[in-house]
Amino acid sequence: MRILVTGGAGFIGSHIVEAYLAEGHEVAVVDNLATGRRSNVDRRATLHEVDIHSRELEHIFASFQPEVVNHHAAQASVKVGQADPVHDLEINGGGTARIARLAVAAGARKIIYASSGGTVYGEPECLPVTEDHPIAPRSNYGTSKYTGELYVQLAARTAGIAYTIFRYGNAFGPRQDPHGEAGVVAIFAGLMLAGRPCTIDGDGEQKKDYLYVGDIARANVLALTAGDGLVANIGTGEGTTVNHIFHVLSEAMGNTVESRNGPPRPGDVRNFWLDCSLAKAKLGWQPAVSFEEGIRLTVDSLA
Ligand SMILES: NC(=O)c1ccc[n+]([C@@H]2O[C@H](COP(=O)([O-])OP(=O)(O)OC[C@H]3O[C@@H](n4cnc5c(N)ncnc54)[C@H](O)[C@@H]3O)[C@@H](O)[C@H]2O)c1
Repeated sequence: MRILVTGGAGFIGSHIVEAYLAEGHEVAVVDNLATGRRSNVDRRATLHEVDIHSRELEHIFASFQPEVVNHHAAQASVKVGQADPVHDLEINGGGTARIARLAVAAGARKIIYASSGGTVYGEPECLPVTEDHPIAPRSNYGTSKYTGELYVQLAARTAGIAYTIFRYGNAFGPRQDPHGEAGVVAIFAGLMLAGRPCTIDGDGEQKKDYLYVGDIARANVLALTAGDGLVANIGTGEGTTVNHIFHVLSEAMGNTVESRNGPPRPGDVRNFWLDCSLAKAKLGWQPAVSFEEGIRLTVDSLA
């Protein structure tokens, strides 16, 4: 199958590219390297270093003629979205509308889109959060990612092609940027390697749904042949505290640095985990890598 992956030089996208190549697919990557890296992209994939708003993209789509377009390129920072909502919307809203339109024009039969389970629902009314929970984002990023969902559905509905939308929990694993604002595993691992203390926001007992990136890649493989018309959460269904992350990571890294507690992050949702039974029923997907095993794989990749 010919698959075009946007954001394929980024953290999650690069794992998806590898999973597609391992299944024998032909992969083209579109990424402007805003946060992604050329070195993340497997040599067997063709990297087009262009912006999703670039005119050049029309030629890339027309000549590659992707059968599936997997859209992971995004402005992925909540903080940046708060500081510059217009920029955030241009990439995550307008950019997604453009990618969906190009996919249709190139004759693709399916669009797969990465949305955000951690931000589109807002403050959970009940746990675990199911897909029919009200959409009530508390950030510009959550709003723009949901806007992207609507554009993908609109383009697919109008053209009569398929789509799958995934709402991920908090991904972690190899190649996550330790200098980013999110990704507490990567941030703590980076600090531990540098021998610097880790600051835990608040009391560290807040619980989020941390999912190993390889499990996300597998969901994207399954979506090539199943899950048409599906909007599904992709997470573990369980919450893990920041204190537990520090503890497990410390053990795995043989770490001796201290943790200290900082102020709670303003506006942060305290407890959050996703119900993932829909993905299991429709795709046969469920997480295969435990939190501890995911940490071990992440630490191994740092060696
Ligand atoms: N990391 C998570 O926990 C998480 C959770 C939910 C959803 N997501 C979504 O998954 C996707 C991947 O996230 P990630 O964590 O791998 O982030 P990332 O920043 O590593 O990946 C995003 C990629 O998109 C590229 N990009 C950004 N703007 C672009 C543009 N204008 N044109 C072309 N390429 C552009 C970047 O260079 C980067 O390679 C995003 O859509 C994000 O919103 C991530």
